[in-house]
Order: sequence, then structure tokens, then C-alpha cells
Amino acid sequence: MEWEWNYVVWSTIIIVPTLIIVFSKRSSCSYKLPPGPPGLPIFGNIFDLGTLPYETIAGFKHKYGPIVWFKIGSIKTMSILSAKTAAEFFKNHDFAFAERKIIDTMLVHDYNLGSLALAQYGTYWRVLRRICTVEMFVHKRINETVHIRRKCVDDMIHWIEKEVDAKEIKGSGIEITRFVFLSTFNMLGNLMLSRDLVHPGSRKASEFFNAMMRIMELSSNPNISDIFPCLRRFDLQGLRKKVHREMGKTLEIASTFVKERMKEREDGGEKKEDFLNVLLEFEGSGKDEPAKLSEHQINIFILEMFLAGSETTSNSVEWTLTELLRHPEAMARVKAEIFEVVGQKKKLEENDIDNLPYLQAVVKEVLRLHPPLPFLVPRRAMHDTKFMGYDIPEDTQVFVNVWAIGRDPEYWDDPLNFKPERFLNSKTDFKGQCFEFLPFGAGRRMCVGLPLGNRMLHFVLGSLLHEFDWELPNNVTPKSMDMKERMGMTVRKFNPLTAVPRKTSS
Ligand code: HEM
Repeated sequence: MEWEWNYVVWSTIIIVPTLIIVFSKRSSCSYKLPPGPPGLPIFGNIFDLGTLPYETIAGFKHKYGPIVWFKIGSIKTMSILSAKTAAEFFKNHDFAFAERKIIDTMLVHDYNLGSLALAQYGTYWRVLRRICTVEMFVHKRINETVHIRRKCVDDMIHWIEKEVDAKEIKGSGIEITRFVFLSTFNMLGNLMLSRDLVHPGSRKASEFFNAMMRIMELSSNPNISDIFPCLRRFDLQGLRKKVHREMGKTLEIASTFVKERMKEREDGGEKKEDFLNVLLEFEGSGKDEPAKLSEHQINIFILEMFLAGSETTSNSVEWTLTELLRHPEAMARVKAEIFEVVGQKKKLEENDIDNLPYLQAVVKEVLRLHPPLPFLVPRRAMHDTKFMGYDIPEDTQVFVNVWAIGRDPEYWDDPLNFKPERFLNSKTDFKGQCFEFLPFGAGRRMCVGLPLGNRMLHFVLGSLLHEFDWELPNNVTPKSMDMKERMGMTVRKFNPLTAVPRKTSS
């Protein structure tokens, strides 16, 4: 769903002010806040933000500088808009902002309490983070699971070929992201649970997949309960109720997978080397950390991997193909590199990626221009704190605007243009040390799935480019391509990319 602030606000314009006056607590303050646009009473700056808030807020920099302050309804918000201020934020203030702002729909079934991405900064978060970095997303483990991604990419190529045959596509093309999304979903399903969870050929696609899709759609809706937390109890749009229902379904299904596995283990069945096994085998010290993870925590962790890993990765593939189709010279160069390294007959393998510097540069350039999470996962000030001479009150939410930072003209030449070459022979990468380029975030709460996401992204993309030549549908030219964006859980193409795949001739 689009980020339709105006629609949400106008539709409730009558009731909200009345309820706010009745239920909100007034507070007075004498903080030295960062500069920012003046806002309306009660509504703050919601009307200023538009449908692409990262773009609007980036524009505030000209007038107010690289740290801006504004309010979304009653939510105090600070946004970081330059590489320099981001460096200061992550190097010297990461701890003070180490918690997340949690949206209302993520409170259902105590999701926030079991989640790693939303966990309070403390022992439970540290335990999950350690399990991820030491057991799941470590290079050795990722290398051991290469066959899983190979199978899922082979399936994806096969689905695309079948779709092309079935539809006798001539010049109209296919919506490629659907196949990429299903493939990444199955990769995660197999890494987590050793099973495929969805197949595009099956009419009754898996219940788990459908319910997950609905959670993603519903949670990306702007919600009055988040803009005016004092109205949470009314759930005016019914979003919490709907997410509660869908989350209930997914947790129940996850729970049957977990129970099945526990039974298999009891019966002495063959041990599966997947993430679920890691979670079931976890043994904490029992002193300051739990001795075991509860079944509910395991179920939530399973959901989280799909929520965090599927759309981020598949959207990045879609944006990359879009940019390559818009820039035929870059498409020709990346394909030539792949053919030189891999050849025409062999399949592209994950261990080819290190030898494909231009493909890597293309991916970086896409993440610079189209970071899937333009505000990262919003942080929250744990207590009143000083930041670069300003007083930031407790509970302020922070948007580190990596979309704006990736276009900061102080750091990037010709920042608005797609130029993968800028990353060739450059040390700039996305591991959280180059503050002008932060698509995976930085600091303590940086993306824990980076090694896996990075691998999936290059492998899926490289395979699509190796197996097919991609063309634009009839009547569409690189210059006339639609590049409209929309903001949901991630920033997506407003209209999904349609492209014509032609099997590469061998
Ligand atoms: C292109 C792919 C991906 C991108 C661009 C991406 C981006 C991000 C970003 C920006 C954050 C917030 C960082 C911050 O606040 O500083 C994040 C957090 C997170 N990501 Fe990713 N991500 C990707 C893939 C994945 C994958 C594949 C997984 C796991 C399967 C994953 C799991 C997580 C988790 C669990 C967190 C929360 C970490 C914490 O709060 O400690 N991500 N990701």
C-alpha cells in the first residue's frame, strides 16, 4: 500500500482532534531542538511529507541543514541527512539510539518481544544476534548451503521458461519480480526449515506465504495509531485486528513445523542442518540469558527471517534489472563480463561472484540509488541525549535517511546518475564503515543478514543475466521507462517491472 498520509489524515480529520484533546497528555519543554519545518498543532508535519517522505525530508536539508526535526502527528522525529552527521551518529551516539520505534501492528502476539529487529537493546537481543552472526550468517555456513540456493535459482529459471512458453510471449513481457520473490522466499524456507513453502504453479499457493504477504501489506499501511499513539486503543483502521489474525495463522503454521521437527528429533530421525535446528539446539548460560528459546520465540524468529529477508532482496533485484534496461551500455558490459568469466554453457555459480567486479559495482550503484529501507529500521532515543549540540528528548524516533545520504553531493560526483563505474577500484562498500553509503545500516543494529542477502542478490541477478537476454516490452524505450516509486515496508517500483526474457543462445 502506498504511504498515503493525506488520505489517512483527511479521512479522520473530524474525529482525531477531538479524541486527541481528550486523551493526550500535554507536555512542555525547553529543549534546544534541531531546526525543522514549522508544523501544525496536533498534526505536526504530516501534511508536508507526501507519498515519498524520504524524498521530501531530503529536501529539508537545503533550508534546515543536515539534522532536521519535525513531528509526525505527536511523534517527535529527527532525520539525519548527510554522511558527516551519520558518521557522528553511528560512531559516537549509536548506543543512545540503539532501540527501535515499534509500530502498532508489530505489538500483536507479542511479536516485538520475540523479534530480533525490534528487540529492546539488552540480553535477549544479544543472544539472538550472536546466534545469527556465529551460527547462521557466518561465511562457513553460507558456503555449506550453496546447494539450496542453486536449487531455488534453477527452479526460478525453470518457472520463467515455462511462463514464457505458456504465454507465447512475443513483445509483452513478464512480471519478473514475482518469480524472484518466490525464489528468495523458498531460499529462506529451505535455510530455515529445509522445505519449499511456495510454488507458482500450484493454484492454492501455500497458506503460510499468503498470510505473510498480507502481514507485509497491512503493516506497510500508514496507521493513525502510530501517528497518534494515544489513540492506539481504538485501532481506528482495524489494522491491528487484521494483522493479529494473519500473524496468528503464520504462527500456527510455523508452530506445526517446529512441533514436527521436535517429534522427529525425539524419534531419532535424520538431523537437519538448518536454522531451526540451530534454534532448537541453543543452550544459553541460564544466568543472565535464557537457558533455551521458547517455542513462541522460535516461531517469531522464523517469521522474522521472511519479513526481513524476502522483500529487501527481491526488490533490489527488480531495481537492478530496471536500471540495466534503462542503461543498455551497462547491461552490455555486465553481460560481457559474465560471459567472459562463466562462459556460455556452464551455469553461473556463487564462487564466480568474486570474479565479477562490474556486477558487484552495478549492485552497489543500485543500493545507493534505491536503498530498500530509506530510513533504515527507525531507531529510538533510549533517554534524553545530546546530539551535535542539540537536546534530543527520550523516545524521539530517528530516520537515518540513507536515500538522501547516497545522493549527498559532498561525497558523490554526479549523484543522481546511474554510474556503476564509480565503484570500480574503489574501497567504498556497504559494511557500515563508509557513512556515505549505508544501505544495510551501521553500528550495533546493522543488518545481521548482510552476508546472506548480499550472496542471494548477486547470485539471483547474475543467473538471470547469464540465462536470459532481457528486453523491454514493445513500445517502451529506455528513456520512456516508468521509474515511479512507492513506499511500503520497502521502497518498491510503483508498477512492477515488465521485461521480455529471451533464452541466451548457446
Ligand atoms: C538486500 C538485502 C537487505 C537489505 C538492503 C537489508 C537492509 C537492512 C537494514 C537497513 C537494516 C536496519 C539496519 C540499522 O538499523 O542500522 C536491517 C536490519 C535487519 N536485517 Fe536486513 N537487509 C537485507 C537482507 C536481509 C536478510 C536476507 C536477512 C535475514 C534473512 C535480514 C535480516 C535483518 C535483521 C534480523 C535485521 C535487524 C537487526 C537488528 O536489529 O539487530 N536482512 N536490514
